[in-house]
Amino acid sequence: MNKTTVFSAAAAVLATLSIVLPDTAIAGAHTGPPRAQDLLVDPGKRSDITGTVLITGANRGIGLEMARNYAERGWTVIATARNPDRADELNALAADNPGVSVERLDVTSDAEVAALAQKYRDQPIDVLLNNAAWLGDPADQRLGNYNFEVLLGVMDTNVGGPLRLAEAFLDNVARSEQKKIVGITSAQGSLTLIRSDTIQFYNASKTALNMSYRALSFAVRDKGITVALVSPGAVDTDMMALALGGADFQMRLLTPAESAEAVINVIDQYGFDMSGTFISHDGARLPW
Ligand SMILES: NC(=O)c1ccc[n+]([C@@H]2O[C@H](COP(=O)([O-])OP(=O)(O)OC[C@H]3O[C@@H](n4cnc5c(N)ncnc54)[C@H](OP(=O)(O)O)[C@@H]3O)[C@@H](O)[C@H]2O)c1
Repeated sequence: MNKTTVFSAAAAVLATLSIVLPDTAIAGAHTGPPRAQDLLVDPGKRSDITGTVLITGANRGIGLEMARNYAERGWTVIATARNPDRADELNALAADNPGVSVERLDVTSDAEVAALAQKYRDQPIDVLLNNAAWLGDPADQRLGNYNFEVLLGVMDTNVGGPLRLAEAFLDNVARSEQKKIVGITSAQGSLTLIRSDTIQFYNASKTALNMSYRALSFAVRDKGITVALVSPGAVDTDMMALALGGADFQMRLLTPAESAEAVINVIDQYGFDMSGTFISHDGARLPW
């Protein structure tokens, strides 16, 4: 890919994100604050709620910071990672916090999901937090160069994973106080907001996650379970670096810790009456 293509591809990704990032300055893009009537919750409001949370992909990025934030709030945290032996920061967090346990989990593995569900069969889980996702290499998802193995892998991770977890841990959530299943989604999955083709497979996976979790919200309604779809904002992580392709932009990305704080506040306030709603870290409703 030449420099101009990288620049315009990254600009398109950011242009999408800017629509939902009121404090983000992107050259040439006008952004404004979300309209008051679209704000569903207050992302700056911390509660003193505690419970048990299971987080996927908790070894780095936003998942690691959500594990840290929940631990600081006094929650019991089941923090999962594909390779716990290499999850140094997460293991250090668990060493300092008796309420944090680290477990092995590849969300694409039926066997690992079943084994973890068996291990925790007696444990109510208040918040089942599906954070793990795979972007895939942007070069593999461009017209003329489609790699269908990557397509299947992205779909299996980003849609199959959250559905596997929801099915396997449904009873744990149903037996809890808060009864929440959360999908960490993305504005990149919004059909309304999308303006580029740079990460097509990833975009499609988040749209599919939105649809499957909205449908799930109806399937579990009679159990009193809330299904939340929360986008974490534009965050400075490995995934964002890969999406931007090394382009240099003057914009403020959220730190993973800032995003984690806002997302957890949003989840705390996300009520049963909102189940199946697509919302951003800033408390605003997102268009499908
Ligand atoms: N960063 C952003 O700006 C942004 C914006 C919108 C939405 N999001 C969403 O926010 C969530 C976290 O993103 P991030 O930026 O923190 O990403 P990241 O830094 O790339 O971290 C992704 C995490 O997912 C894990 N993972 C990937 N495939 C997995 C699998 N098959 N099984 C278990 N874990 C797996 C990774 O584990 P390994 O270390 O083993 O690979 C890692 O822990 C994702 O759902 C992402 O789509 C991020």
